Amino acid sequence: NLEVLRIPVVFHVIRTSNGTGNVPDSRLNSQIDILNEDFRALSGTPGAPGTDTKIEFALATVDPNGAPTTGINRYNNSTWYSDGGSYWNTLAWDPDVYLNIYTLGAPQGSSGILGYVPFLPASSPNSVGSNSDRVVVLNSAVGRNAPAAPYNQGRTLTHEIGHFLGLNHTFNGGCGGSNCYTSGDLICDTNAESQPEYNCPANSSSCGSPDPVRNYMDYSPDTCMTNFTEEQARRIRCTLEFYRPALAM
Ligand code: ARG
Ligand code: ZN
Repeated sequence: NLEVLRIPVVFHVIRTSNGTGNVPDSRLNSQIDILNEDFRALSGTPGAPGTDTKIEFALATVDPNGAPTTGINRYNNSTWYSDGGSYWNTLAWDPDVYLNIYTLGAPQGSSGILGYVPFLPASSPNSVGSNSDRVVVLNSAVGRNAPAAPYNQGRTLTHEIGHFLGLNHTFNGGCGGSNCYTSGDLICDTNAESQPEYNCPANSSSCGSPDPVRNYMDYSPDTCMTNFTEEQARRIRCTLEFYRPALAM
């Protein structure tokens, strides 16, 4: 009987100096809906209902000074747009109490990736709560019916926030070793798989059991992704409560 916890989100929409790369409010709002559908297992995709993590997301309504806010900030800066210049030190709202999400044109510069989080807390617990504790996402992959098909139904942020809350990729460590809590993705109810899945095969078993291609922590297309497992949901809750106790209410 877990209580529902709600995480306040602030979107920092970074555009070029002439304003290219905006994400409209409508897509930011639909992204919040998608996070709630996925983390509360409401998305109802046939065949693979996920686990309800009992975690919800809402745009922040109060800013760090106590004033009303939409939870959406926009800036024009071409250096920041390419993920340069340590913008988080200028822009972050207290990471202990807000989930800071930055949308920009080129996460990690020219590498072409959809999003990332500095991997926390496993590798660097001390930076939890610092300004660099953030989620970065490609602007065109944000929200429902976004431009970046097939990564256009908001699940890049579901995946990145999975990392933010302590989850590894399902393909981490490939087929892994004999102990599923010390190898692979360190989760026992996600089957091991030998590599990321970029499609949505109905039957693939790279390590002798069905690959978890519908899990949010694989690399499959957004419409293929349908679930967190029960153990992933528990790790998400534990990461939130242990490492970021002030983030949700
Ligand atoms: N490649 C990114 C990462 O490793 C995100 C993958 C997101 N996949 C998706 N279907 N939206 O964090
Ligand atoms: Zn990932």
